[in-house]
Amino acid sequence: MVSLNTSLVFMLLFTLLSFSSEAAPTYSSHYCDNSTSFTPNSTYQANIKALLFSLSSNISSGKNGFYNTTAGQDPNLVYGTFLCRGDVSANLCQDCVASASSEITRRCLMEKMGVIWYDECTVRYSDQNIFSTVREVPGMDKSSSASITDKDRFNQLLVSVMKILENRAAYEDKSGKKFAAGEANFTSSQTLYSLVQCTPDLTDALCFRCLQSAIATLPMCCDGKQGGRVLLPSCNIRYETFPFYHLNGTGNTVLVPLPSSPNSTKGQRKISSPIIIAIVVPVVISLVLLALALFLLRRRASKKYNALPEDKVAEETTASESLKFNLATIEAATNNFSSDNKIGEGGFGEVYKGKLSNGQEVAVKRLSKSSVQGAEQFKNEVVLLAKLEHRNLVRLLGFCLDGEEKLLIYEYVPNKSLDYFLFDPEKQGNLDWSRRYKIIGGIARGLLYLHEDSRLRIIHRDLKAGNVLLDEDMNAKISDFGTARIFGVDQTQANTRRIVGTFGYMSPEYAMRGKFSMKSDVFSFGVLILEIISGRKNSSFYQSDGADDLLSYSWKHWTNETPLELLDSNLRANCSRNEVVRCIHIGLLCVQEDPANRPTMTRVGLMLDSYSVSLPLPQKPAFFLRSRNELSPQGKGLKSSDQSSSKSTTLSINEVSVTELEPR
Ligand SMILES: *[C@@H]1O[C@H](CO)[C@@H](O)[C@H](O)[C@H]1NC(C)=O
Ligand SMILES: *[C@@H]1O[C@H](CO)[C@@H](O)[C@H](O)[C@H]1NC(C)=O
Ligand SMILES: *[C@@H]1O[C@H](CO)[C@@H](O)[C@H](O)[C@H]1NC(C)=O
Ligand SMILES: *[C@@H]1O[C@H](CO)[C@@H](O)[C@H](O)[C@H]1NC(C)=O
Ligand SMILES: *[C@@H]1O[C@H](CO)[C@@H](O)[C@H](O)[C@H]1NC(C)=O
Ligand SMILES: *[C@@H]1O[C@H](CO)[C@@H](O)[C@H](O)[C@H]1NC(C)=O
Ligand SMILES: *[C@@H]1O[C@H](CO)[C@@H](O)[C@H](O)[C@H]1NC(C)=O
Repeated sequence: MVSLNTSLVFMLLFTLLSFSSEAAPTYSSHYCDNSTSFTPNSTYQANIKALLFSLSSNISSGKNGFYNTTAGQDPNLVYGTFLCRGDVSANLCQDCVASASSEITRRCLMEKMGVIWYDECTVRYSDQNIFSTVREVPGMDKSSSASITDKDRFNQLLVSVMKILENRAAYEDKSGKKFAAGEANFTSSQTLYSLVQCTPDLTDALCFRCLQSAIATLPMCCDGKQGGRVLLPSCNIRYETFPFYHLNGTGNTVLVPLPSSPNSTKGQRKISSPIIIAIVVPVVISLVLLALALFLLRRRASKKYNALPEDKVAEETTASESLKFNLATIEAATNNFSSDNKIGEGGFGEVYKGKLSNGQEVAVKRLSKSSVQGAEQFKNEVVLLAKLEHRNLVRLLGFCLDGEEKLLIYEYVPNKSLDYFLFDPEKQGNLDWSRRYKIIGGIARGLLYLHEDSRLRIIHRDLKAGNVLLDEDMNAKISDFGTARIFGVDQTQANTRRIVGTFGYMSPEYAMRGKFSMKSDVFSFGVLILEIISGRKNSSFYQSDGADDLLSYSWKHWTNETPLELLDSNLRANCSRNEVVRCIHIGLLCVQEDPANRPTMTRVGLMLDSYSVSLPLPQKPAFFLRSRNELSPQGKGLKSSDQSSSKSTTLSINEVSVTELEPR
């Protein structure tokens, strides 16, 4: 009897102890995707129930705290997973998955897809196969209300810790858990505790991508806060200034030294090689970039006044000969400018498709007879523009000059213009996120070349979806740049009374005061990014009741911290949250009211290429579209874009772009 009692007491004590050492699982957040729902009492609902039961009863079959399974048969098949935090015990994992399963049943009543995040585990189900694929949407984030003092230094520490952890979890965690936690002393009394984890079914690279997405969200959700977390279906990250995981300073915990603060040297400890790499490589790269930038700046400065020396003139003359086409050749190629060959109508004339005798396809722009330019000047401009060679620019191949007839011959780009796909509900589907992302990158590189890298500094002045053509691989090619030079439009410096461009894309300083600069192109580029992401025309908002323009709509979602709501609904299921949010961020930076605040295209290029370039917070954009009526007297008519046959109805005053004469 006594011994039985003692053992009972022991057991009781034991359970009490094991309970007290492990807190109850804590609910954090959830998401029910109500875009697809099932009917009550359906088979699908029964399958969800079975799935959740199976998840909670299979904790021990899980590997690395992760388990995937399905329930039911094809039309009603449900996929499900659980993931327990890397440090929790099997018991706590069990409790957490059980609590999460019952909680999600309560919270997501009729939705086919749901995710619930607890502090200690994540449970998901879906009617889509979610195994071994990375999902970065839907995402939730949370931050503590307490603010941090010395925010800048804290952010610096947080970013360096997160970078080390993401590498650890994605590439170096030999346990297979794809989990890493780390601690760093912030001040003598404050320690930063951080944790990152992917579902272990992801490949290393997918895990890394997901974590990058999550980390990129931190500045938006949690800037200056003492704690924050970003919860995505395939990965999650969290940091606090108190210990919230239970590792013993060994194993997966990384002790992170303070990043280069002048006073930290004396507290330095042994640094492992991945940390050295994580710190040294970016520093070296920055130094190299800096040196390169200085070099280029100096070169540019010294070249400013001696571009186009006299001895080049002879060269230019022979060049113009090689660019010359015979009228007969072009007439043959375009079937004598037959209406069947006409593919568009631009501001300065019609555009025809043609096929040269060697089989090469070309687009021929037939300039209207009113062009005032003299023959010599015309030739010179063509020679200059024909030298611009970039994969994201439509190539000018040559010209033809015969009496009254002035023709420009361009490379033919087969896939029509971006607006043809982007704003057509049926064709939008052809542009998935990876294509759109590539197009954004392509336009950025093309524009950067016009602004910075080409010999001439060219301001496009009418960048818009209709002036971006797509080749067979959906590479973006900017068209219609530099044409103002050819047409001899007055281009005396950066202040002009003649407004060229398209409403909706024009920067406010340009639309209202006729001031243009490279920053006006940057503005148009920003509008274009937001259009590509949302699949909606900036101007389309104007007519519809109550809706603002795209810029204020974007700004509203940005300040509500719901940037992904902007996304074209076709794209929501499969996109990189990180890339989307970053592009929206860049777009908003480009459309800021004050041109000085807008980044240069060089900067935009860096921002797109490297996640380590931090982005400043955007200021409110210019919502000048509201006052469009006041501006419209200058409007002259509807013009469609050049090489495309899309007959876009964008209001365009004139279809030229102007080159700022600044050779270098
Ligand atoms: C889905 O949920 C959101 C937010 O909870 C709500 O605004 C929306 O109306 C819901 N849609 C449907 C179809 O129930
Ligand atoms: C679902 O089934 C329950 C129990 O069988 C029943 O009480 C309820 O009315 C049913 N609901 C619907 C919408 O059929
Ligand atoms: C998972 O749980 C279900 C339901 O309890 C059970 O039938 C199945 O055998 C379990 N699977 C494994 C691998 O243990
Ligand atoms: C878990 O996912 C893998 C693919 O990622 C699949 O091969 C396996 O069958 C799944 N397990 C279950 C129990 O469905
Ligand atoms: C933080 O400081 C304490 C004592 O000041 C030290 O024991 C600990 O190792 C430090 N931790 C890190 C991550 O540097
Ligand atoms: C931490 O370390 C102590 C002693 O080394 C050990 O008893 C305890 O179980 C460890 N806790 C965890 C969560 O590993
Ligand atoms: C470095 O230490 C000095 C004195 O110890 C202090 O005045 C200074 O504020 C410290 N600087 C930083 C960046 O912590």
